[in-house]
Amino acid sequence: LIGAVQEETNIAMHQQRVVITGAAGGLGRACARLFGASHDLVLTDVAEPVLRQLETELAAEGYIVAGSHAGDLGDDRLLTRLAGELMPDDAFTLIHTAGLSPTLADWKSIIEVNLVATERLLRNLEPQLQPGTVAILVASAAAHSAPVIPEIDQLLADPLADGLIDRFGTALTGMLGPDSPMLGGLAYAFSKRAVLRICERRAAAWGQKGARILSISPGVIATPMGKREMEKDPMVVAMAESAPAGRTGRAVDIAFAARFLASAEASFITGCDLRVDGGSIAVARGA
Ligand SMILES: NC(=O)c1ccc[n+]([C@@H]2O[C@H](COP(=O)([O-])OP(=O)(O)OC[C@H]3O[C@@H](n4cnc5c(N)ncnc54)[C@H](O)[C@@H]3O)[C@@H](O)[C@H]2O)c1
Repeated sequence: LIGAVQEETNIAMHQQRVVITGAAGGLGRACARLFGASHDLVLTDVAEPVLRQLETELAAEGYIVAGSHAGDLGDDRLLTRLAGELMPDDAFTLIHTAGLSPTLADWKSIIEVNLVATERLLRNLEPQLQPGTVAILVASAAAHSAPVIPEIDQLLADPLADGLIDRFGTALTGMLGPDSPMLGGLAYAFSKRAVLRICERRAAAWGQKGARILSISPGVIATPMGKREMEKDPMVVAMAESAPAGRTGRAVDIAFAARFLASAEASFITGCDLRVDGGSIAVARGA
């Protein structure tokens, strides 16, 4: 009898899984707390000690951490482990926040993590798409403010193409010069615009499986990354100050937007981007 009750309880407690990349970061941990209220969590981040600490905190607070994997998203073995966390025949949610910003990395690592690893992550999880699956990729308001250079966008539209990094590097340094301090910033903006395109391009195929894919473009958000960018780049401060919302974003602003986009209320929304930037891009365009 006890076994039967236990089994029934387990069935009753069954929740959909949410995979959160960059879980140890500012946006990732806010998403973990919000989604963890209704989902079993699968967390991943390259920052192992911070991930382990978060996992312990969340478990102590009663969240279900079904899986936690430290590792680099560029590593195939990590991607296989993440795919192995998905329940067969069950929809899942992916909140992909892992990323590098210009003050953290050079242009090459930015493209490798923000774009190439994103494409490979999706390809790894796609065999397990089910009706109701939703992926939300965190892009950036920078995707909307960067200059539009069709040749670059076209190049980045095939993130796994042979020689992509070299060809992008040649184009980027050709535009700015090899030592420009803007290499990282522009690579970041281009990488994030390519993420918007990833969602648009995949929406039809995902729709055929009953799944949706979207991006969110945050403005300046008070996370470790956002604060570092503000310290180093006056343009980021100006962007934050220009926001009609009258404040810097909070990590939970992005988590709330992600929760809406992942919900049944958003079931008619796919293949597009939501700017959650306090209105700063609207102001920049109107100026
Ligand atoms: N904070 C902002 O102002 C802001 C604005 C626009 C867009 N974004 C985007 O939001 C996302 C999250 O940003 P955040 O503010 O939480 O930053 P964050 O630095 O706090 O978190 C990012 C996390 O990604 C992880 N990560 C980086 N490279 C990785 C890799 N190769 N493999 C696995 N994990 C890796 C880091 O360890 C970190 O925990 C990023 O994609 C960022 O570009 C942030």
